[in-house]
Amino acid sequence: MDTARHDRRVLSGIQPTGNLHIGNYLGALLQWVRFQEQYDAFYCVVDLHAITVPHDAGRLRAHTLEVTALYLAAGLDPQRATIFAQSHNPAHAELAWLLTCLTPLGWLYRMTQYKDKAARQQEESVNAGLLGYPVLMAGDILLYQAHYVPVGDDQRQHVELTRDLGQRFNSMFGETFTLPEVVNPETGARVMGLDEPNNKMSKSATGENHAIFLLDPPDLIRRKVMRATTDSGRDIRFSDDPTKAGVNNLLTIYQALTGGERAAVEAEFEGRGYGDLKKAVVAAVTDTLAPLQQRYREISAEPGYVEQVLADGAERAAAISERTLKSVKDQMGFLEPARRWPGVD
Ligand code: TYM
Repeated sequence: MDTARHDRRVLSGIQPTGNLHIGNYLGALLQWVRFQEQYDAFYCVVDLHAITVPHDAGRLRAHTLEVTALYLAAGLDPQRATIFAQSHNPAHAELAWLLTCLTPLGWLYRMTQYKDKAARQQEESVNAGLLGYPVLMAGDILLYQAHYVPVGDDQRQHVELTRDLGQRFNSMFGETFTLPEVVNPETGARVMGLDEPNNKMSKSATGENHAIFLLDPPDLIRRKVMRATTDSGRDIRFSDDPTKAGVNNLLTIYQALTGGERAAVEAEFEGRGYGDLKKAVVAAVTDTLAPLQQRYREISAEPGYVEQVLADGAERAAAISERTLKSVKDQMGFLEPARRWPGVD
């Protein structure tokens, strides 16, 4: 792999907490595929993040392989990008601890995602990892000195905290970290639930028609989209009006998948009904997902392939992160372990 031709680095990750949906695809994966051509790209399956909510061990293993296979099926190329599992590189957990000790608690209690996720659980089952989650994420990014972090809109606050932490470290111990910039896609940075279009589409929502998963068969996609919540109006226009959120979401998904300008998309549906819009969304989604699903089946049928991609990725990732971690520990004042002299016990 020729990383020398890229002078800028990107890093991003997805939690293997379940099947990926079209929001993960439009908010993250689609940008990642483009960025692997332009930048030195690091894409991580963030399995350590997945245990911040109650989890099942067997499922975590299965989902880690599945999410990696979906990365590849979506078009990530292990020759161009470093694809790895976060837990395969112990530097992530180590830097997270070092940064934890520099993070004011108040910064963490302010995080919207923490507040949302903690509110959904019984107080006694919220673990300390859920609060520390953004510090682990900051470590993921800072370890690789990433310049850009391509994510959906919901991760913006976490990337800002990453910058704050990087800056805090740099001013306390000397210039060490590159401060990353968040990159959201122009369209599709916040895909909403089909059944509740004022809430973000999420892996953990339970509604049957909430999310389009990347491995859903075409008839299921059709059923979910045709049942998507709309309103009693007729106008097919982009809109910030919360009562029109359903139509706005369908238009956004359509635009993100087909790539037209807003005005052109609106013109296409001028004088047509919501049923036509839904049918067009079904066609756009199934056209995108059919080849992805075909590649997913091929990749999964090859024994050991996904595991090998992760093994190669972990080696490449460690080679980069090792340098950062060494310098961080050095700056913070940790004693280097003495080398053993040959022949001396
Ligand atoms: P996660 O696993 O929740 O989501 C993965 C990616 O998908 C995006 N996303 C969405 N985009 C548009 N519409 C939606 N409805 C939607 N839902 C999710 C997310 O913004 C994200 O880009 N904290 C991260 C994982 C992480 C990470 C990192 C990301 C850990 N370390 C380092 C970047 C860099 C998360 O929970 O993503």
